[in-house]
Amino acid sequence: MYSYRGTTALVTGASKGLGRAYAQELGRRGAHLILVARSAPALERLASEIRADHHVDTRVIATDLSDPAGPTAVAEELREQGAAVDLLVNNAGLGSVGPFFTRPLAQHVQSVDVNINGLMLMTRLIGEDMLERGSGGIINVASTAAFQPMPYQASYAATKAFVLSFSEALTAELRDSGVHVMVAHPGATDTGFFDNTTAVMDAKRADSPTRVAAKTLEDFARGRTASYPGRPLFRALTWPARLLPRTTVTRVTAGFNRHMGFHEVQDVRTPAN
Ligand SMILES: NC(=O)c1ccc[n+]([C@@H]2O[C@H](COP(=O)([O-])OP(=O)(O)OC[C@H]3O[C@@H](n4cnc5c(N)ncnc54)[C@H](OP(=O)(O)O)[C@@H]3O)[C@@H](O)[C@H]2O)c1
Repeated sequence: MYSYRGTTALVTGASKGLGRAYAQELGRRGAHLILVARSAPALERLASEIRADHHVDTRVIATDLSDPAGPTAVAEELREQGAAVDLLVNNAGLGSVGPFFTRPLAQHVQSVDVNINGLMLMTRLIGEDMLERGSGGIINVASTAAFQPMPYQASYAATKAFVLSFSEALTAELRDSGVHVMVAHPGATDTGFFDNTTAVMDAKRADSPTRVAAKTLEDFARGRTASYPGRPLFRALTWPARLLPRTTVTRVTAGFNRHMGFHEVQDVRTPAN
């Protein structure tokens, strides 16, 4: 069983939501932390909290992972500081919700840039040091959305299909390298994922980020290559996509997302955005 105590973990998207929970749960398990996202003040606040609660080293690197310069700057900063990362948690991610043609193109592009390009660059730039050392771990946060096309979340589900395929391939490539890759598939989780839109996350039907983070880390520690850290129903819902014709699954998913009102989602303007 892998022990997190005394290791160094880098968590992307740590400023809120699931990434914040991964950072807190890793701190609770005694891991030193490197927290990455764009919102420096939120990262600094979390770093102080974790330092005070768990007496581990925490540092912050504020950067934009949608820009290839972001992952490069993270890798350079770590190299300059001589910091070795034992565990990379590629969690940062976002998704446009609503009909593909009526939602702002920039949201789709940003989602591809962070969920695919950012994740791939971080994996390469941080992972190559792990490979040289012959030890390390990478957790890529995909989603149950990875398993089927999702009308009204079309670009988002496609980015997560990339994360699933990419991670499974790397797991096999790196099998005897000492670097362990696991892909995590949370279902609906109670975070700010739909913030600034009319879409809502029903807290009763969504898992708590803390529970999802804890279960993911348990699965990684057990050496799993895939984690379904949400309630069992979310895992069960990935099976029809593997068994039924894709056209059927896509039609059913479209119906479900229309039922959720995703076909008529609007942005909500707040003073902050
Ligand atoms: N919530 C769910 O139901 C659910 C289900 C399955 C999978 N997931 C996955 O879980 C992960 C976390 O999502 P969440 O629900 O916690 O969403 P969230 O609350 O919106 O948090 C997203 C995180 O990603 C960071 N991020 C966004 N754009 C970034 C950029 N350009 N550069 C660097 N960091 C960026 C944000 O930080 P800044 O804004 O400070 O940059 C924030 O920390 C995502 O990969 C998501 O796809 C979520």
